[in-house]
Amino acid sequence: MEKTQARGLIRPSHQLPQKRSGLVKLLLAAICAGAIVARLQTGSWFLFGVSSTRTTADEGTHGVAVDWDTFWDTLPTRPKLEYTPCFDQTPLGGPFQCARLELPMDYWNGTTDATFSLAILRSPAVVPVTDPRYGGVILLNPGGPGGSGVGFLRRGGDAIRKTVDVKDHKHYDLLSFDPRGVGETTPAVDCIKNPTLDHAWQLRVMEEGIFEASDAAIGRLWAMSIARSQSCSLPLPDGEPDIRKYVTTASVARDMLEIVERHGEWRETEARRLLGCVTNVPSTLLYKPEEEKIQYWGFSYGTYLGNTFAAMFPDRVGRLIVDGVVDAYDYKKSLWSDNLLDTEKDLQGLYYHCARAGYPACALANQTSVTTAKGVEDRVLNITYSLYHNPLPVISPSPEVITYSDVKNLIFAAQNKAGISTIPLRNQTEGSAAMSIDATMAIACSDGDDQSWVNRTTFEKYAKEQARVSPSVGSMWSAIRYVVMDRSLRHSTPTYSALTRSAPSSLELAGD
Ligand SMILES: *[C@@H]1O[C@H](CO)[C@@H](O)[C@H](O)[C@H]1NC(C)=O
Ligand SMILES: *[C@@H]1O[C@H](CO)[C@@H](O)[C@H](O)[C@H]1NC(C)=O
Ligand SMILES: *[C@@H]1O[C@H](CO)[C@@H](O)[C@H](O)[C@H]1NC(C)=O
Ligand SMILES: *[C@@H]1O[C@H](CO)[C@@H](O)[C@H](O)[C@H]1NC(C)=O
Ligand SMILES: *[C@@H]1O[C@H](CO)[C@@H](O)[C@H](O)[C@H]1NC(C)=O
Repeated sequence: MEKTQARGLIRPSHQLPQKRSGLVKLLLAAICAGAIVARLQTGSWFLFGVSSTRTTADEGTHGVAVDWDTFWDTLPTRPKLEYTPCFDQTPLGGPFQCARLELPMDYWNGTTDATFSLAILRSPAVVPVTDPRYGGVILLNPGGPGGSGVGFLRRGGDAIRKTVDVKDHKHYDLLSFDPRGVGETTPAVDCIKNPTLDHAWQLRVMEEGIFEASDAAIGRLWAMSIARSQSCSLPLPDGEPDIRKYVTTASVARDMLEIVERHGEWRETEARRLLGCVTNVPSTLLYKPEEEKIQYWGFSYGTYLGNTFAAMFPDRVGRLIVDGVVDAYDYKKSLWSDNLLDTEKDLQGLYYHCARAGYPACALANQTSVTTAKGVEDRVLNITYSLYHNPLPVISPSPEVITYSDVKNLIFAAQNKAGISTIPLRNQTEGSAAMSIDATMAIACSDGDDQSWVNRTTFEKYAKEQARVSPSVGSMWSAIRYVVMDRSLRHSTPTYSALTRSAPSSLELAGD
């Protein structure tokens, strides 16, 4: 944990080798400051980061320092939504509300009576439910699979609210949750229980770098992937209900239906509390069992989740936004093959606009003469490749080295930033991890076709193809295949293809 906390302590004045030009210094300082943060956070989307950053203290509502994990650990699990004020919110709202909801692991097959505890975070609407401007609740999923909804809402709640709320017209409750197996939802799919050992493991993976970082890297990464995934598939001690068997997206969609129902129930209770009178609750606020409708906004994998919900419960769709749509076929087949088709275009766009803006608006532009997009690209490649054999030492109380892999990961992280582009990089003191890598593995394996046929040769072929399609991020992307292949974690709950029925065609932005 030491290492994570100390990141970002960059001192441009004396950390950089003296030979670099002032501009390059500036650029590297900017890149490095970001790189350090990014590789531990956004960069952890797939393989390269630290999945459990369990460091931090927060100001709780009572002015007491509360640890994020400890808080969730002590929050009681209930069959209804019973909220507790929790982490303080930002300018656009009051404190967040937290709840833990008890839900069955297996809705369908009766293989177990066990339940699990779903962690829910709500950013309350700025008006009470009894106000005519109250627009109901919007459920959010940040993507993944394995992305933390509570972490996402906590970091990005303001940006979402700015988008969906219409002043004096509609104001929404925003709600997100850590899907089964993920983050603060318990039991979590957590293959290395000891957080220190887990952290050490992930640092080891991260320090290996990306595949082309050395000729030995791919072999080591491959072996580590097998070690982790197969250890992760070992059976639990006798009788312990095994959440790994119940994490298909169909189950998560069913959980969302339950949240929608429980929200309806909560809304009526809340209205009665506010109105203080049982006869007088407007019919729009009454709970309508089995008729409540979802309002939903899902990003990336969250579009697969939203479409699955719509396919399973078409009559329960109120409004649904699918944003950054996943190719459901490719995901179901566990191919992960068409995600990068436009990535390079994106990057070319960045180079183009950098050249257009010029220096100093774009630090990568040529300071002394006209810049072209090609010039910017060359410069980025030059800087990146110069680190391949000459990593950059960072002098600070916690020494650091910036490598070729770090910068490549940074570019990947920046490109992979799903959803709201205004979400700032999370500080290490801000709570939960963005992504649970073991949960990613369990969910993607449960949803997708069996991958046990993928051997190292096939994998290398895949990785090379991804690097060909997208030279800038292909190597990082292909690491996703490590975590979804060769697993014995198979579903015993149904999967439900979002392909089997078409999703509702009208996707309306909530609020208008
Ligand atoms: C900026 O442009 C000048 C003139 O074309 C060129 O000599 C120089 O190498 C360029 N610098 C960078 C950093 O691209
Ligand atoms: C990139 O590096 C090459 C070789 O060192 C050099 O000739 C070229 O001018 C550099 N380009 C830029 C834009 O810095
Ligand atoms: C992160 O921490 C730094 C230093 O404490 C601070 O300047 C910055 O505003 C913080 N960023 C966010 C997003 O809170
Ligand atoms: C790897 O898998 C491919 C395709 O299934 C197969 O053709 C090949 O022989 C395998 N290679 C090894 C070394 O097992
Ligand atoms: C559970 O039900 C699904 C769908 O009905 C079925 O495909 C699956 O095999 C069942 N699993 C078990 C363990 O019974």
